Amino acid sequence: MSNRIVYMDYNATTPLHPLVKELMIRELDTYANASSMHELGRRARSAIEDARSKVGMLIGEDTAHNSLIFTSGGSESNNTVFATMFHLGRSGKRNKIITTAIEHPCVLNAAMWLQREGFPVHFLKVDAHGKIDMDELESLLDDSTLLVSVMTANNEIGTIQDIKRIAELAKAKGALMHTDATQAAGKIPLNVKALDVDYATLSCHKI
Ligand SMILES: Cc1ncc(COP(=O)(O)O)c(C=O)c1O
Repeated sequence: MSNRIVYMDYNATTPLHPLVKELMIRELDTYANASSMHELGRRARSAIEDARSKVGMLIGEDTAHNSLIFTSGGSESNNTVFATMFHLGRSGKRNKIITTAIEHPCVLNAAMWLQREGFPVHFLKVDAHGKIDMDELESLLDDSTLLVSVMTANNEIGTIQDIKRIAELAKAKGALMHTDATQAAGKIPLNVKALDVDYATLSCHKI
């Protein structure tokens, strides 16, 4: 029997591209603090800003206004969005969260955490194709809605939601819009400006 392995789990994680590996190894020698003013610090800053603008290009985001934040990945990014909602919801008038029943566990758990903290949280059901029901979404949206969080592409069945339309509905009620685009970035065209979302989360190891 052959020992050849065929790896078919790219939605879970992907092998490192040789060019990325080469760059990462080279940048390990850029050890300076990127906030330092000296030559090495400026070199480190320039490497970070170069990476930031490349990610920006991938998702149609203008990175000039510090709008792109690096984290350890999708889980930390999603948790950061929900932790932000915890603070906004406690100090403001809005606290309703609308998400879907088919989000990644890092979103589902963060949403359930807010629920335990007393936030009204709704998990939209999906049809046989994994699509949310826009009428259900519209019926839940109101002036108390703080966040609508719907993933762009599902990690198990690949359903792609109509994020542009969902964001339009959310914005019409003054709610914030988040999309977990972890399974979309690098796989389908993704333009966060055109989608008009407030938060989009990505993960480098899925690309
Ligand atoms: C849709 C989705 N969101 C978030 C994550 C978590 O990303 P990470 O592994 O970078 O924390 C995954 C990973 O499987 C995912 O598929």
